[in-house]
Amino acid sequence: KRKPATGARGLRFTPVPPNTADAVTVPDGYRQNVVVRWGEPILRGAPAFDPENQTAAAQAGQFGYNNDFLALLPLPGEHRRQLLVANHEYTDEVLMFRGYDAANPTRQQVEVAWAAHGLAAVVVEEDRRTGALTAVPRHPLNRRVTATTEFRLTGPAAGSDLLRTSVDPTGTKVLGTLNNCSGGTTPWGTTLHGEENFNQYFANSSRTTDKRYGIGTGATERKWERFDKRFDVAQEPNEVHRFGYVVEFDPYDPTSTPRKRTALGRFKHEAATVRLTEDGRPVVYSGDDERFDYFYKFVGSKRMRKGSSRAVREHNLSLLDEGTLYVARLTGDSPALEIDGTGKLPADGEFDGSGEWIPLATATAKGAVSHVEGMSAEEVFVFTRLAGDKVGATKMDRPEDIQPSPVSGKVYVALTNNSNRGVGANAKADEANPRNANKHGHILELTERRNRPESTSFAWSLFLVAGDPDDPATYFAGFPKDDVSPISCPDNVAFDPHGNLWISTDGNQLGSHDGLFGVATRGARRGELKQFLTVPTGAETCGPVIQDRRVLVAVQHPGEIDGASVEKPASTWPDGPGKIVRPAVVAVWRADGCDIGA
Ligand code: FEO
Ligand code: CA
Ligand code: CA
Ligand code: CA
Repeated sequence: KRKPATGARGLRFTPVPPNTADAVTVPDGYRQNVVVRWGEPILRGAPAFDPENQTAAAQAGQFGYNNDFLALLPLPGEHRRQLLVANHEYTDEVLMFRGYDAANPTRQQVEVAWAAHGLAAVVVEEDRRTGALTAVPRHPLNRRVTATTEFRLTGPAAGSDLLRTSVDPTGTKVLGTLNNCSGGTTPWGTTLHGEENFNQYFANSSRTTDKRYGIGTGATERKWERFDKRFDVAQEPNEVHRFGYVVEFDPYDPTSTPRKRTALGRFKHEAATVRLTEDGRPVVYSGDDERFDYFYKFVGSKRMRKGSSRAVREHNLSLLDEGTLYVARLTGDSPALEIDGTGKLPADGEFDGSGEWIPLATATAKGAVSHVEGMSAEEVFVFTRLAGDKVGATKMDRPEDIQPSPVSGKVYVALTNNSNRGVGANAKADEANPRNANKHGHILELTERRNRPESTSFAWSLFLVAGDPDDPATYFAGFPKDDVSPISCPDNVAFDPHGNLWISTDGNQLGSHDGLFGVATRGARRGELKQFLTVPTGAETCGPVIQDRRVLVAVQHPGEIDGASVEKPASTWPDGPGKIVRPAVVAVWRADGCDIGA
């Protein structure tokens, strides 16, 4: 049944019902178009997409695979144009190459995959007549960064013994970025990109530090170690220490060297989102997406400068190299109790409590200091998970995106799911992770002490416990549950200009496809969650950007279903039957040109 278009400001649209269509479905009265697809040529000289004859050189000039994070940045002086930055998280070889033999990939296939990873910057232009947004090929700001682009390692661990390799005895230069999941946009005009599941690219490790990061003892699935020994830990032990960071990228300078910021720690960074303290210092939140892992905050010690001169830009590019890295510890204020569907509440009636940011290490211009007994500062920044273990950080249900509200300052932490919570010897449900065998995930709302980003303590409470609203264990910030959309597995989150939280999902466990949802965080309609779109078969919804008049999403891994291949596709999105499935970016706007949800 369709609901009328009532709702909080910015959320007045008719919710899209859950469905399994092999399409992007949007509310009545909205239009959509594909902005840019995997393989579209964006650089000068790049050939048209030909999936049957793909080469690494072609791919390096084309939009990459599996778009995740998106930023849509201003482009002053260019009418109706903006600068789109996208992450290309990983490759699905079996959906990219006809006849792919997973046991014996060819060098050509492996090099195409290297070129399909990384980042893209591409200028996009609005068609004044239709409202559609399309890529501007060959624009001088268009750029591809791949698994072989040169990066600089910066901050407290750069140059340390842990980061030196046979190819790079300086420990400061690394080729490429891998598994960039979500990210953030800085107030000084750069973008941040979280290297997430980097473990899957590295083979043959027996070290306990690597085990804590999920690096395997045998061959990898993609077998890259056969083609470049840096992916073989047994041959090049420190290369793996050069992945798992937050990348900072300057999309306005196509000649800039992207940097990996070691001061923000090394773990499976889902994303990195920035706000400023009152005196202009950056504070960056980042979750470590693993069952029973932690979430972190970096508080910089240097102030941002305003302006666009070269000196100002250089200064601002040093902001993320000095400061203190913290990890979160959460304490419930009632005896632990599971949300078990019986309606039982903690003694004080709320799943809430207090928390503290535990300092792990501080980086300064003169050197770095560890706050963790038994670990040097360099070890803290490179083996950050082990530092979190030592200080007793709180084990969470897969921390994904973390986003501070630009309106209220409250911070929202998406916890996507944790099927192992309370199973066997694993940690049991607690007030902050209140569901055992947590299939659908939840979202916490944090309030930093005195609402100051740099505070070392905070209050927290449950904002959303996802699932079917008919399931009594779900919670929608107290809003009546007969008026909300079902949701499962919150992943990336973003705010619209009104302060509504938008949530994209990955891994819907309710039998319908993933999608994008909007929910008011304040006022009488706080908790009224409404579904805005759904994505095709096998896809995850990523990178939401919510502007006044446009919503952008990255449709990641469409057709990624067990057993699917180029020959046996599970999805034919976006180009229809007979065409190869292609991850792509989609724009949605109102047919009448009015604001989203107005
Ligand atoms: Fe790449 Fe945690 O999602
Ligand atoms: Ca409580
Ligand atoms: Ca994600
Ligand atoms: Ca995810």
